[in-house]
Amino acid sequence: MINQETLSILDSISFFSHQLDLVGIKNSRLDCQILIGAVLGVNRERLIMDSQLLINENHFKTIESYISRRMLGEPVSRIIGYREFYGRRFIINPYVLDPRPDSELIIDLIKQKIPNENEKINILDLGTGSGALLLTLLAEFPNSTGLGVDISYNAIKTAIINSNKLNLEKRAMFCRGNWGECLKENTFNVVVSNPPYIPRDIIFSLSPDVRIYDPKIALDGGVDGIYFYQPIAKQSRYVLLDRGFLITEIGIGQSKLVGMILKKEGFSIKDNDIKTDLAGKKRAIIANYC
Ligand SMILES: C[S@@+](CC[C@H](N)C(=O)[O-])C[C@H]1O[C@@H](n2cnc3c(N)ncnc32)[C@H](O)[C@@H]1O
Repeated sequence: MINQETLSILDSISFFSHQLDLVGIKNSRLDCQILIGAVLGVNRERLIMDSQLLINENHFKTIESYISRRMLGEPVSRIIGYREFYGRRFIINPYVLDPRPDSELIIDLIKQKIPNENEKINILDLGTGSGALLLTLLAEFPNSTGLGVDISYNAIKTAIINSNKLNLEKRAMFCRGNWGECLKENTFNVVVSNPPYIPRDIIFSLSPDVRIYDPKIALDGGVDGIYFYQPIAKQSRYVLLDRGFLITEIGIGQSKLVGMILKKEGFSIKDNDIKTDLAGKKRAIIANYC
């Protein structure tokens, strides 16, 4: 039995990361620091500076429960209820995808394509989830406006909470809808979309942190994973302004087929419009209005 009154922050990090090690959790120390930091309401730097402070009983009990959940495989972001994306904090819950670092590529690509951050652009995010893509873009382009659409009402509610927390509510709108259906023609300069693209049959084989904790509706891309690209392409073409473009995330091995779908709907895609992530995987396609 541990007497928590004697445990400092540093001792707790060592003790709990050892428990995570025992069940094979990788990055156990980092996970512990994030979980303990979240309970104490401090960031990792502060945690390290205050490492000799003692942990009180209430905090200790909460840390213990967080560690137990982590030991059962729940992702850290799901336990603490938020995720950092492009340097900003997004609330997440069971209704939204946990935004992935891979998707930050979409933000980088748009910043490369529109180097003037003061440009007035109107952005549409199809399948907005937590709002991570749209809200990050609105924050990076201070004169921009945008609309996030999602089929899930609870995702829309989450995105609205995030827009308020990031003080972007004056430039962000959200609505429930089926991709871009019912939106007005020639309205947006940029469309972004990270649709569900996992082939249905392989969802069961994904690691539990994805399979159990991300909502199915955010993963299931139909039989071959590419089911949603056609409506997204068609509707994006309709709502885009002249010289606008669509950037969409893709799954592994989907670049050729998705490229064909986008071209069939009237977009132009050159070889270098297929973009790879840091791991060298083809991760996004830029489709230009022509
Ligand atoms: C892979 S998640 C992406 C979430 C967020 N954009 C991100 O990158 O973190 C896909 C999103 O598409 C939404 N979605 C699924 N089917 C949809 C549809 N028919 N119309 C609009 N959104 C849909 C899901 O609810 C989910 O939020």
